Amino acid sequence: MKYGYFDDPNREYVITTPETPLPWINYLGNDGFYGLISNTAGGYDFYRDAKLRRITRFRYNNVPNDFGGRMYYIKDGDTVWSPAFLPAGTALDSYECRHGMGYTTFTSVKNSVEAKLTAFVPLGDSCELNMLDLVNNSGETKELTVFSCIEWCLWNAVDDANNYQRNLSIGELEVIGSTIYHKTEYRERRNHYAFFTVNTDVAGFDTDRDTFLGARRFWNDPVVVENGKSGDSVASGWYPIASHSIKVKLAPGEKKSFIFQLGYVEVDRDKKWESKGVINKAPAKALIEKYNSEAACDKAFADLAAYWSNLLSIYHLESGNDKLNRMVNIWHQYQCMVTFNMSRSASYWETGTGRGMGFRDSCQDLLGFMHLVPDRARARIIDIASIQFENGSTYHQYQPLTKRGNADIGGGFNDDPLWLVACTCAYIRETGDFTILDHPTPFNNVEGSEKPLLEHLRRSVNFTINNKGPHGLPLIGRADWNDCLNLNCFSYEPGESFQTFGPSEGPVAESVFIAGMFVKYGLEYADLCDHIGLADEAATIRNEVNNVKTATEQFGWDGEWFVRAYDANGNKVGSDECEEGKIFIEPQGFCTMAGIGQEKGYGRKALDSVKKYLVNDYGVEILAPCYTTYHVELGEISSYPPGYKENGAIFTHNNPWVSVAATVIGDGDMAFDIYKRSCPAFLEDVSEIHRTEPYVYSQMIAGRSAPRYGEAKNSFLTGTAAWAFVDISQAILGITPTLDGLSVKPCLPADLDDYTVTRRYRGCEYHIHVLKDPAKKGLYVDGTATEGNLIPINDASEIEVEYYI
Ligand code: GLC
Ligand code: GLC
Repeated sequence: MKYGYFDDPNREYVITTPETPLPWINYLGNDGFYGLISNTAGGYDFYRDAKLRRITRFRYNNVPNDFGGRMYYIKDGDTVWSPAFLPAGTALDSYECRHGMGYTTFTSVKNSVEAKLTAFVPLGDSCELNMLDLVNNSGETKELTVFSCIEWCLWNAVDDANNYQRNLSIGELEVIGSTIYHKTEYRERRNHYAFFTVNTDVAGFDTDRDTFLGARRFWNDPVVVENGKSGDSVASGWYPIASHSIKVKLAPGEKKSFIFQLGYVEVDRDKKWESKGVINKAPAKALIEKYNSEAACDKAFADLAAYWSNLLSIYHLESGNDKLNRMVNIWHQYQCMVTFNMSRSASYWETGTGRGMGFRDSCQDLLGFMHLVPDRARARIIDIASIQFENGSTYHQYQPLTKRGNADIGGGFNDDPLWLVACTCAYIRETGDFTILDHPTPFNNVEGSEKPLLEHLRRSVNFTINNKGPHGLPLIGRADWNDCLNLNCFSYEPGESFQTFGPSEGPVAESVFIAGMFVKYGLEYADLCDHIGLADEAATIRNEVNNVKTATEQFGWDGEWFVRAYDANGNKVGSDECEEGKIFIEPQGFCTMAGIGQEKGYGRKALDSVKKYLVNDYGVEILAPCYTTYHVELGEISSYPPGYKENGAIFTHNNPWVSVAATVIGDGDMAFDIYKRSCPAFLEDVSEIHRTEPYVYSQMIAGRSAPRYGEAKNSFLTGTAAWAFVDISQAILGITPTLDGLSVKPCLPADLDDYTVTRRYRGCEYHIHVLKDPAKKGLYVDGTATEGNLIPINDASEIEVEYYI
């Protein structure tokens, strides 16, 4: 069952009912000012950091969970309705929500009035625009009253939800004409404020929530709306909001449009005030002025569309498979932008008050993002490397606003450092920008500790070399990629964090997964060294890689698949010897990608075992059989009921590893099959089972052991976005940036043998046609048969490429 459909020419998903199984959301904003918006216009806005600069409020664990956000009420006689269905919740005569690239529109009709609400954040400015068009399609004149409402959050989202004894006394606002300024805490240390305005005269306003709602009422029937008249309240403390009311008279057939703007402004400290107690409104007025006409907003909207057209033309596929085309050309890349912007910080499942930016998460998000905006990728790599410690280990997370490592969680996740190597090498392969390696980059943000970025990569690689366990395999530390495999934790008390409890420097527990990573990324580092004239270092590293490879073949192979780890007692995890958790997905993918045991056929065997034990209808499960009891020596993984999360769900992030691994052993059918199983557009028809958005990946899909098999959770912010795009665009379709140029080396399923990829790469536009013709087999560059798979870097502005299979 579906709740909408894809509109590919417009790059939209069209939701045709407000009653989706869960809120289906979208993101507004590209760089700085962001909004989350659901298909009923719920969600919230923030500037840079959803914890420290929260502009509008979100009520956690709310019932329903999606009240709030952009609230609009249209009062038409005795009927009150909302263009996005909520908050009024009145049944609509028609409803449609279109989630597009950085915008969302709602079109709905009630009693012959059509409302179209368009929400987006214009490029380069810190505001969200809501354009509301009203058309009277009835034969009579309509006299409507439109109410707007947003609820201010008192900036720090955690404090906002915690510190009532203070916060209910500090709310302050100014109301000037149609603009409501939110200036709580501005009198003291804040040099930013927000405002909500509309480009017309208002009949009234409210800034005090209780005046607006009335005693013991809910957002669906505020007393002010019921009465058709604002209270003109000015909040002092309590719960500040911003609401306008507008009288709208529409003749039959007449249309009127209004522009609401929610803006965020920072002011120099010495220019904070216009006069005593009166905030400096100059920057706000400039923004208000800029977007006060329909023409200006239409232009900003068109600019946003053009921005996305340009980004999405960097990698563009034409194939006979519509689902594949829409994922590759639109939704994979869109989700990569979102994960780059948000890491795992703010979604409907990540509160925005928690983790901030993750080290390993952000490094992996970059893998799917590099080609879109390389400058931002570069800056992010430096930010991430700046939280690394001198010994090569690193903080696990940082807060986007402060960019300082998060001391609450600390470090000790021993896969982290290698992801920095992965993303930096990928950045250079994309851009050819070796200068990033010279960039002076601090350790732990300590001024004066700067070393060229190359030194950070070196310490990352050496961290693994210097931290190996009894079998010569890398020590796992607090956890590797699997945050829930906590082999040094041993927690018996509820509430203890599995990630931070216990001795992190366990000297015994080893990770075969990190071994796979080290082989893969150690070799990439060695290649990089060769390229910049460090042949000796390259040789040393290759030698170390060999040692780990040998150790893995010796101690990390279980007979039919790769072992997952050794626990703190030296026992195998993910082995046939185990009663539960006999096989894990991660090392099958990574060790095969890394080519470990290739000559011995380990990769083929490992992937056959994956098929046999882990593949289900919707993807590949993370392990089998699931843990049915708590294992103190394994940690959080065994805390989840079977089939959920890291205990046997499809943890989608690692599915592309298996798919890429299949291409490494030349199995295009398996690669594409695995790709399709968890790919959102391919699951659209079972949306009533899958339940999350059919246009983006979710972090997990419940596995066969779970009562709700097939149900997805934690949509949008997952490393799957980047890895799935790498998988399909590079490994399967075969268009891969290398240090020396673009490589064309598809690994295809039987049913995909005729497609064209347009790829802009290092200043040249490549038109790559992949066709079936065994007589011609191989690569032709501008008509000339070419040995191998590489198109060397060149000065051409366009190149025609044929690749015959
Ligand atoms: C979450 C984390 C990610 C981790 C994964 C597996 O998605 O964000 O860092 O690798 O879980 O535990
Ligand atoms: C929990 C989650 C895991 C996530 C981690 C982040 O362990 O199960 O997916 O990565 O929290 O701290």
